[in-house]
Amino acid sequence: MKQPSATVADQAAIAEAAAILEQGGLVAFPTETVYGLGADAENPAAVARIYEAKGRPHDHPVIVHVAPGADLDYWTTDVPDEARQLVQAFWPGPLTLILKRHPRIPDAVSAGQDSVGMRCPSHPVAIALLRAFKGGKGGLAAPSANKFGNVSPTTAQHVRDEFGMDAHDDGALNGDDACSAAELSRVLEGGSSEVGIESTIVDMSRLATHGPVLLRPGHISAQQIADVIGMLPAAPDQAAPRASGTLESHYAPRTPVTMLAADGFAATLSQLHARGVKVALIGHDLPAALTASAHAQRVLPADPAGYAYGLYAALREMDQTGASLILVETPPQDAAWLGVNDRLRRSVFGSAGVIAALLQK
Ligand code: TXA
Ligand code: MG
Repeated sequence: MKQPSATVADQAAIAEAAAILEQGGLVAFPTETVYGLGADAENPAAVARIYEAKGRPHDHPVIVHVAPGADLDYWTTDVPDEARQLVQAFWPGPLTLILKRHPRIPDAVSAGQDSVGMRCPSHPVAIALLRAFKGGKGGLAAPSANKFGNVSPTTAQHVRDEFGMDAHDDGALNGDDACSAAELSRVLEGGSSEVGIESTIVDMSRLATHGPVLLRPGHISAQQIADVIGMLPAAPDQAAPRASGTLESHYAPRTPVTMLAADGFAATLSQLHARGVKVALIGHDLPAALTASAHAQRVLPADPAGYAYGLYAALREMDQTGASLILVETPPQDAAWLGVNDRLRRSVFGSAGVIAALLQK
């Protein structure tokens, strides 16, 4: 995995951010997966601000982020031994566990469900913030720091773009942006998120009856979970807790996105080119001759971790090019690529038939 490269927030910025959070404000902060939009998980009014800022429906629960070594029994009840083994093996790191929620967690955090998502991020700025906030005893409710349904942010600049804040504006409001940024008062810097796609989510709240359930694939694989607890997480069933990242349409740029295997690329691209359609490409293995006729392109590394690291920035960048279509070369379909394919499948949802429509114009 890549290490954060850009400048990161210093102690003073972190202390200030913790104070804002303790007063019920919102702060965006880096994690190793994507940037989060944080609020005090024990303050229902602060949590309500997250939903307002994101435009997120109220029936979608948010994850509670805690510092390394946090007391799970403060936040949850009936924690199975297997969940503690996963904590031991993967925290801090990109794994969210769904557990039975303690009554002290406000309804707003878990959208009224009897479970709660818990995560301990590994990004040094996230850890420093969680240690500064309420002396390390608090929890930060934090969804990804994007407007609902959009691509998650993997840099501080992506967050500012989402919420209409100026570059290097730490939340000082000005002019027309004042309304949209009013709820978000700080964005902490932390470079590019090293994982690049959201955490793996495993439901451990119904272990006795349903076993572990994989609600969202990510960098930590089902097999890695099985290696620790001796049970392979199953695919979600009808009764599994809801996860908005599992909606069919999510993580989507404004431009329609379509996936094509490498062998179908050349013909489709030249047909679109002949019609004057501007196409932006995202590939991992495309020949240079092919990409030459594209309006814009981004070639990502041909390994799943490197690809995930660059995926959301590539989708955002291609979305800004004025192309009518983002064409993605279908990645490999093996288990190591599950997280990447899951996010791409959701970003293409609703774009079926778009190539035919563009060719008919
Ligand atoms: O990597 C991540 O998990 C990032 C960073 C910021 O930590 N957070 C993130 O949060 O992706 P969000 O809200 O964008 O996605 C969290 C997902 C949602 O699909 C939500 O429905 C699900 O977790 N979730 C949260 N609490 C849950 C619960 N109690 N039961 C089932 N799903 C839950
Ligand atoms: Mg999200």
